[in-house]
Amino acid sequence: MTRRRVKILIVSLLAIVVAATLRIAAGAQPPPAAQPRSLETAAAAAANGKAIYEQRCVECHGPAGRGDGPAATLLIPHPRDFSLGRYKIRSTESGSVPTDEDLIRSVQQGLYGTAMSGWGAILSDAEITDVVAYVKSLSPRFATDAPEVVVPGAQVPSSPESIARGLQVYDALRCASCHGSDGRGKGAIATEFKDDWNQPLTAANLTEPWSFRGGSTARDVFFRFRTGMSGTPMPSFKGAATDNEMWDLANYVVSLGRKPVWSMTADEVRTEYADETVRAAADPIRRGKYLVDTHLCALCHSPLDDRGRIMPGMMMAGGQIMRVAPFGDYPTGNLTSDKETGLGSWSDDEIRQAITRGILRDGTRLPPYPMDWPAFSAFTREDLNAVVQYLRTIPPISNRVPRPSRPFLPVYLWAKFKMLILQIDAPIVIFPGNAGTPGAR
Ligand code: HEC
Ligand code: HEC
Ligand code: HEC
Repeated sequence: MTRRRVKILIVSLLAIVVAATLRIAAGAQPPPAAQPRSLETAAAAAANGKAIYEQRCVECHGPAGRGDGPAATLLIPHPRDFSLGRYKIRSTESGSVPTDEDLIRSVQQGLYGTAMSGWGAILSDAEITDVVAYVKSLSPRFATDAPEVVVPGAQVPSSPESIARGLQVYDALRCASCHGSDGRGKGAIATEFKDDWNQPLTAANLTEPWSFRGGSTARDVFFRFRTGMSGTPMPSFKGAATDNEMWDLANYVVSLGRKPVWSMTADEVRTEYADETVRAAADPIRRGKYLVDTHLCALCHSPLDDRGRIMPGMMMAGGQIMRVAPFGDYPTGNLTSDKETGLGSWSDDEIRQAITRGILRDGTRLPPYPMDWPAFSAFTREDLNAVVQYLRTIPPISNRVPRPSRPFLPVYLWAKFKMLILQIDAPIVIFPGNAGTPGAR
């Protein structure tokens, strides 16, 4: 797997874990059993879909579908805002609403390379149809606009000749200006992108087809550049070439796909990522930010509001209220560079020791949870130093967080007995609010 993919995977898993934890804290009910289906109107489907949505989608897409659920802040790309009716994966003209089949497919198989996982294994076909009806009801566009479906000419099968012609189309349509002459950014003119929601975005690496949101067959690729990806800089190339030329181009793009990491030998991986290691050494702060982002340090080390979102302006300022019942309370520390209440006056060694050995500055030893420091102990020396260097660049936010509470010995022993002998795990509960005192000096 590429690091970006690993990152997305970790982000998705943690988002789901956090979402699940928050639901436990909020006393959420288990999902309603699937209802027997009768002939339904769109309204009835949407009503049923709403229940599924609230159960499965709300953590990321938010209660009103505005893409602002509790897990949204840390996900890149952000979950879709459904209120605008604008979608990336369509078989319809640029600017048009997608078809039901487009939406059903996205929900069924997910958007590869993002936190949007496929629901095909979890929801029945009928449930997916209903939840899609509900998602559509969140935007007025579906009530007024009909999808303008694109019907392409007969598919040109892939062949060396078609791929060679496709390369010429790639040059003629100037795909290289964003995707590079090699499909992975070499010589690209535009390198920094934002989507319509002002979130950072990268142009797809065309040598990594497993990361294409809408799938990696020639047909999928054809539709992506023929119809464009609404809300992103990826334009529609309608009318820019004949259908045959576009099929050649799709075949060319598919031919760029390289061997995925999970099929490579260790030597091949090392060669593939040699330049990434060089880049990391040249810019440790960037590397440190990447590691801190992918390990979701901010998801724990920031206080949450009553909807589970990071409190504005408090990112990394600590104070999230975590209880490991019955081991005690572990409010998370302030990792900003504030001298009084953050890491500003900690030595590099003290920070490294907290991250990799779970030993705090005052000698408190953390259990291996909530912070998974045993996993962090596998950081290479370079990566650990990069994390420390990056933490030092986080602007100070004053928030004095109390120390973790110490468990009462008999309670501790009983909990250990339950975990080790009775195999009953200690739940981690997260409460809304800030355990710290902002502005305390
Ligand atoms: C873990 C977070 C998460 C959950 C849970 C989630 N989504 Fe998503 N969803 C995303 C993200 C992130 C995107 C945006 C991906 C992108 O822009 O490339 C997205 C995009 C979408 C899209 C837009 C597809 C397009 O063409 O633009 C649809 C439709 C969608 N989700 C439906 C759902 C439904 C229905 C559910 C519940 C059954 C759900 N999602 C649950 C994260 C999530
Ligand atoms: C103006 C910049 C720009 C140009 C020109 C451009 N792309 Fe893209 N392309 C993007 C961006 C940005 C994305 C990522 C969109 C996303 O992830 O939501 C993308 C994504 C893609 C994807 C991934 C689709 C998926 O399902 O995720 C493919 C394939 C692709 N482009 C092919 C092409 C081809 C072929 C051309 C030329 C015909 C082209 N692009 C021209 C910016 C561009
Ligand atoms: C699952 C939640 C969680 C995650 C993820 C997490 N931590 Fe922690 N961390 C804690 C808790 C709880 C403590 C103990 C209370 C505290 O912060 O003192 C802690 C303590 C620390 C401390 C000592 C701070 C202090 O003031 O005592 C540092 C430094 C630290 N973590 C850094 C990190 C870094 C860097 C990452 C990401 C690589 C990270 N943590 C990820 C929960 C987490």
